[in-house]
Amino acid sequence: MTDRYAVVGNPVHHSVSPRIHAAFAKQTGQDIEYGSLLAPIGEFPMVVERFRTEGGRGLNVTVPFKLDAFALATALTDRAQSAGAVNTLKFGGREALGDNTDGAGLIADIARLGVSLGGKRILLMGAGGAARGVVLPLLEEKPALLAIANRTVQKAVALAEHWVSRGAIRGGAYHDFAGERFDIVVNATSASLHGDVPPLPDSAFASATLAYDMVYGNRATPFLAAAKSCGVAHLADGLGMLIAQAAESFYLWRGVRPDTVPVIEMLRR
Ligand code: ATR
Repeated sequence: MTDRYAVVGNPVHHSVSPRIHAAFAKQTGQDIEYGSLLAPIGEFPMVVERFRTEGGRGLNVTVPFKLDAFALATALTDRAQSAGAVNTLKFGGREALGDNTDGAGLIADIARLGVSLGGKRILLMGAGGAARGVVLPLLEEKPALLAIANRTVQKAVALAEHWVSRGAIRGGAYHDFAGERFDIVVNATSASLHGDVPPLPDSAFASATLAYDMVYGNRATPFLAAAKSCGVAHLADGLGMLIAQAAESFYLWRGVRPDTVPVIEMLRR
């Protein structure tokens, strides 16, 4: 029988996850069906329960339900626990395993770009849910420094203090990093979605810096355009991360790791 999976969110119609997983299934020969579920706000547990009783095997969870999925899970992976949010659920009997594949997706995509994180100076912009999901996976790559800059300074400082025992990490305001250079600058703010650029000092960029925006779109995001105007040549948006986190979910469900590269090429076209 064909196993059923889906992405659940609100809104969800724009999600490319069904196309990604259909491509993975074709590539790996896995017999799965992957759809999308619109859950009304406040009805996430009911929508999940219905999907399970109809034989659903797993879900990807998107905005705004990642905390609801965390609460619903009966067991959590370490990375979901450390992110404080769940983007993948795997069902077995009465169990609902909650995982978070966002950080692994970012790490895998940066590796695909040929950039290593060990010993590097990384600046992470933002201290919301997107940033929280990637802090520990970034620290585990043993950078020389993981700096976190945020508009609301206290959130960056608190996030850095939380993980200080796990590696070289420092939080502050954007201007606190004036005069410092970084090998990798990751935009985990939602500023690009509003057409804004976080107030990062130009000094953060060197010509060899990788500028990575977790947001993606048809055109360069405002952050990537700003990095380019500072002379940065190595620019990446979040499409690769989106596909890599989906590949991690697929692996959790099916035990098979799909190749992300052809799927990135397909969606770029
Ligand atoms: P998410 O869960 O997607 O990370 P969030 O929790 O609302 O969303 O966090 C959004 C992040 O983008 C925050 O770090 C926010 O900064 P504040 O904590 O100061 O609000 C950041 N952000 C949003 N718009 C921004 C802008 N125009 N300039 C700089 N940072 C911005």
